[in-house]
Amino acid sequence: MVDPITEYRFAKEIFRHGKDLILTEEAQRMKSFIQHGTTSVFEHTVSVAKYSLKMANFLEKLGARIDRRSLVRGALLHDYFLYDWHEKNEYHNLHGFTHPGRALRNAIRDFDINDIESDIIRKHMFPLTPLPPKHIESTLVCIADKICAVLETFKIDICSYIIYRINLHRDITKGRVRLGQIKKHNKEAVN
Ligand SMILES: [Fe+2]
Ligand SMILES: [Fe+2]
Repeated sequence: MVDPITEYRFAKEIFRHGKDLILTEEAQRMKSFIQHGTTSVFEHTVSVAKYSLKMANFLEKLGARIDRRSLVRGALLHDYFLYDWHEKNEYHNLHGFTHPGRALRNAIRDFDINDIESDIIRKHMFPLTPLPPKHIESTLVCIADKICAVLETFKIDICSYIIYRINLHRDITKGRVRLGQIKKHNKEAVN
């Protein structure tokens, strides 16, 4: 069961670290492509960021040092390939192997990304792609990606509340909704 307080905290942190990415038209395009089941690529990347942070919380209690900002930003961009991978065509017929490279090229073209974020994007399909993650952050996203893929394929809802919160942050930032109006701001209005 989803705990709204925990989801609220994750949404706040994801938006804080990834605001400049989330607010772009380019990143919003990920909403128009399906990733698994009925989950869009955008929803999938937010879920992967959330599960990566969950694991980071656990590891930090054991003493691990994690760059949470790069973790979130890499997770948000790890599938930034910007096409419908279900459509068969020669441009992306080996999607599983080639999309990390495509996502990385798109991310470099559209945003400033650091070495950790680049490693997260490039290595997230390991072991399907041969190079293993170099950083702990890349390892977390690689694992979270697989967990989310399974849950999404079985249509288990892991993102609707956090997506609502992220969209609400976006609309407040863009001035589309003011704090006093939040009660009236239903899920349909922010999608
Ligand atoms: Fe991927
Ligand atoms: Fe993914």
